[in-house]
Amino acid sequence: MARIELTVDGAQVSDDVEPRMLLVQYLREKLGKTGTVIGCDTSNCGACTVHLDGRSVKSCNVLAVQANGHEVTTIEGLAEPGSLHAMQEAFHECHALQCGFCTPGMIMQSVDLLNDNPNPSEDEIRNGLEGNLCRCTGYHNIVRAVQAAAAAGATTAQPAAEKVEA
Ligand code: FES
Ligand code: FES
Repeated sequence: MARIELTVDGAQVSDDVEPRMLLVQYLREKLGKTGTVIGCDTSNCGACTVHLDGRSVKSCNVLAVQANGHEVTTIEGLAEPGSLHAMQEAFHECHALQCGFCTPGMIMQSVDLLNDNPNPSEDEIRNGLEGNLCRCTGYHNIVRAVQAAAAAGATTAQPAAEKVEA
């Protein structure tokens, strides 16, 4: 087992994990952060996307031990409890989801995209989301949502402050 200390959604966490444990497994199975989902076993779908030190990563492609000493934000820490981040609000308003399975990853990737480029073109949005697959929507409303969020000035995550010992 390996000792890790990290911040997840604003909470400091200390834990012992197997070195082979994936970050997505750690988030879901040890911390109960089931808002981050697993949609494939090939690192293709992007459903597991979270922020690691503010940048989007596919958490099925990162070991939990690699997050040691770093800050992780999941869809559950994107906004204060009981409120929605502007990107979540835009997805809701633009009907940018159907089954919702891809949505956590889409939103986390979209926030990172706007952090890099606050006013992206449609092509830049489509290119920025190319690592996130959706089986339902046809992508048009997702693009509209990102455009709406950009117009609303949506960028950085706002993790809630809280301390939890796991
Ligand atoms: S679960 Fe599909 S890319 Fe991570
Ligand atoms: S809304 Fe169903 S996979 Fe995207």
